[in-house]
Amino acid sequence: MSLSDFLGFLHSQLRVTLPEPITRFTNQTIIVTGANSGIGLAAARQLVSLDAGRVILAVRSLERGEAAVRDIAASTGRAGVAEAWELDLARYASVEAFARRVIAELPRVDVLLANAGLYHFAFERAEDDETTITVNVVSHMLLALLLLPRMRETAARHRAGRPAMTQFPERRSPNIFADLADEGKARMQERYFVSKLIQLLTAREFASELTKSTKPGQVITSVINPGFVATDIMRHAGLAFQIYQAVLRRITARTPEEGGWTLVHAAEGAEETHGQYLDDCKVGKPSAFVLSPEGEATQKQLWRELLDKLEKIHPGIAQNI
Ligand SMILES: NC(=O)c1ccc[n+]([C@@H]2O[C@H](COP(=O)([O-])OP(=O)(O)OC[C@H]3O[C@@H](n4cnc5c(N)ncnc54)[C@H](OP(=O)(O)O)[C@@H]3O)[C@@H](O)[C@H]2O)c1
Repeated sequence: MSLSDFLGFLHSQLRVTLPEPITRFTNQTIIVTGANSGIGLAAARQLVSLDAGRVILAVRSLERGEAAVRDIAASTGRAGVAEAWELDLARYASVEAFARRVIAELPRVDVLLANAGLYHFAFERAEDDETTITVNVVSHMLLALLLLPRMRETAARHRAGRPAMTQFPERRSPNIFADLADEGKARMQERYFVSKLIQLLTAREFASELTKSTKPGQVITSVINPGFVATDIMRHAGLAFQIYQAVLRRITARTPEEGGWTLVHAAEGAEETHGQYLDDCKVGKPSAFVLSPEGEATQKQLWRELLDKLEKIHPGIAQNI
């Protein structure tokens, strides 16, 4: 990170006061992945307080999910709004089963907050890829495309019309995902930031594909930077890094509640947030790389590779766009 990036980070963490969300989500059905802890749990609680009709906590442990449901009901006084549903983003079959359940049981899906995430320093595989890439990137886009038709229907019925933390050298590979799945070449210290950059690039391309589509129902998509938030996300990182982060956290981190505000802000989904990178609850500026011609070419390559991958997992899925 350059000095000016670091000063920008400190400014954002220490000087910016985030706006507490007030928009109400009356009657809306919202899915929050990884909602049993951290920012996802805080956002789910806020959505229940803001009058959402149903909030689905998509969690890999139903026990932790049910504990979150009870906690949300007790703290908001609104029982029966949050529900825990099983979703393990490390397994495509679980993503597909979750999506089937959504289509069968949720007549509307207003918002998908693809919040779950992993921060690992050890190389482990899940399905075809390294686990951070499977969970943070591939499975979330698989889920988004599987739910897109239901979200479009919902929109048609109910809606009136800078990650600069990695050099991402793997972008030069003719097959980026294959390169990232090669343990011998893996640079796990940067893997999390690579996964987040890929999320941003593929979400931008996804947004432009959605804009071009003539199907009815407008679905808005954006990528959120919640800032540095005091949660346990780094529990699988190396020990030295965890100590460094613990010190930085004491001085600069936002609370999970403030992190939740950034998700809830994105859930409001205005026209001007479509395809955007949201920083401090505003449309932010992605890094120079993302906006460069090379960034654009990488974005298109990643999108092609990801769509090929998703077609193999779930043939015909591209038709949903
Ligand atoms: N904290 C920060 O400073 C910060 C900064 C920028 C971005 N973010 C992003 O914010 C999001 C939430 O992170 P957090 O800080 O709130 O950390 P967290 O408390 O560790 O939350 C991560 C959530 O993801 C879930 N998850 C992990 N693997 C999963 C899988 N295979 N299937 C389903 N769910 C899975 C976890 O479930 P388990 O409890 O079962 O493990 C947990 O509920 C992440 O995407 C993270 O990258 C965080």
